[in-house]
Amino acid sequence: MSTSESDTIADTEQAPQENTNRRQPFPRGFLDTISTGWAERPDQLPPPREQAPYAAARRDVVSAAFTGKRLVLPAGSLKQRSNDTDYPFRAHSAFSHLTGWGADAVPDSVLVFEPNGDAHDVTLYLRERADRTTPEFYADATVGEFWIGPRPALEGVASDLGIATAHLDAFESREGDVVLDEDDALTGFVSELRLVKDEYEIEQMRLAVEVTGRGFDDIVADLPRIVATPRGERAVEGVFHLRARTDGNGEGYDTIAASGPHACYLHWTRNDGAVVPGDLILVDAGVEVDSLYTADITRTLPVSGTFTDIQRRIYETVREAADAAFAAAVPGVKFRAVHEAAMQVIAARVAEWGLLPVTAEEALDADAGGQHRRYMVHGTSHHLGIDVHDCAQARREMYYDGLLEPGMVFTIEPGLYFQIDDLTVPEEYRGIGVRIEDDILMTVDGPVNLSADIPRTADEVEAWIARANAAP
Ligand code: GLY
Ligand code: MN
Repeated sequence: MSTSESDTIADTEQAPQENTNRRQPFPRGFLDTISTGWAERPDQLPPPREQAPYAAARRDVVSAAFTGKRLVLPAGSLKQRSNDTDYPFRAHSAFSHLTGWGADAVPDSVLVFEPNGDAHDVTLYLRERADRTTPEFYADATVGEFWIGPRPALEGVASDLGIATAHLDAFESREGDVVLDEDDALTGFVSELRLVKDEYEIEQMRLAVEVTGRGFDDIVADLPRIVATPRGERAVEGVFHLRARTDGNGEGYDTIAASGPHACYLHWTRNDGAVVPGDLILVDAGVEVDSLYTADITRTLPVSGTFTDIQRRIYETVREAADAAFAAAVPGVKFRAVHEAAMQVIAARVAEWGLLPVTAEEALDADAGGQHRRYMVHGTSHHLGIDVHDCAQARREMYYDGLLEPGMVFTIEPGLYFQIDDLTVPEEYRGIGVRIEDDILMTVDGPVNLSADIPRTADEVEAWIARANAAP
């Protein structure tokens, strides 16, 4: 990026600011002419976007639950990464869910529900683009049009999202406001509101999963080049990123590219290791589409194209656990039954392999057991949607102890991880980590694996790699 010499020179004469060492005053000739000579802005209003009616229906539910309360839901602000450099902006998920504003949301916007009798008037406050006569237009590196591009006008956003808009300057907080992330009832409510997805959300999830599959295909096709790179894990991350960006999308979380023993670190995102033939590489990645819905998929690949016997045994056990979890996932059962089904398989197999100091039955005892969890410390499933770990503020009775319903989207992602220095397992197990993660949509007819087209079984994975690397 360019150095931002003029980020502090808005109002050069009027308002001395920090970093005066870098201040370069604009000469008079610039100031006299910069506001003139610009074409009129087009005044055509955009039509309402596809998600607008869905977001409106969600706002109605929130309104009905908080009669008489003034609700304040901020989008959030830019966060600094290092000097003059911010992280890419990403709106609060609840804000996005209730406005339909995704990747193009303007930082610092605030959604307000103003009580009006038994209902609410809803207004979206945003920092409208600056007038060209203001220094912000050309001299503010954080929000100025010359620096980050134009922001939308109030009328445009109102038409696009179907919400009344007002300038951010008109927003004021009031005593008694119920504020997202400060008020537990509101924060929990809007999190639980996302437990069951509407048809728009389901379509977005299908799209996110589909485009994520392309990223995995690219990784598989690029394995020879990845192996030849000193930090092959970075290359894996980069290939997935390139696919996401080439398709015009983002990523829902940092890609985990964990080769060899790194696969045993559940959220390995340092990705600075080599990808070595003979090892497995675990890739956990998800594309986030413009509406902010994200996939969350894991595949574990034999780098050289074929599993060794021990790798295959571990891999197929994880798949067996995933299949058992899938079979247990039916409408009306508790969410935690999915995890419990996976644990039955994991405990039985590691006991069979002689890895447990107790029987599988003893390990599965809710109080005294858990010895098998040494090899899989994480849960099997989480809700998925606009957050990769969606609905995280839902109450336990609605989440872990809640019942599976049609419209829910969640992961099934068992794994087995034998740390490189784990003396409780024979040497041949050490340094092997496997996870298989699929994205599941619950329907009235039972679960649908949205990611079923991405090869899953050991045989399918080997065939996938062989196909991708076959001579043309
Ligand atoms: N994708 C990482 C996780 O589910 O924790
Ligand atoms: Mn996950």
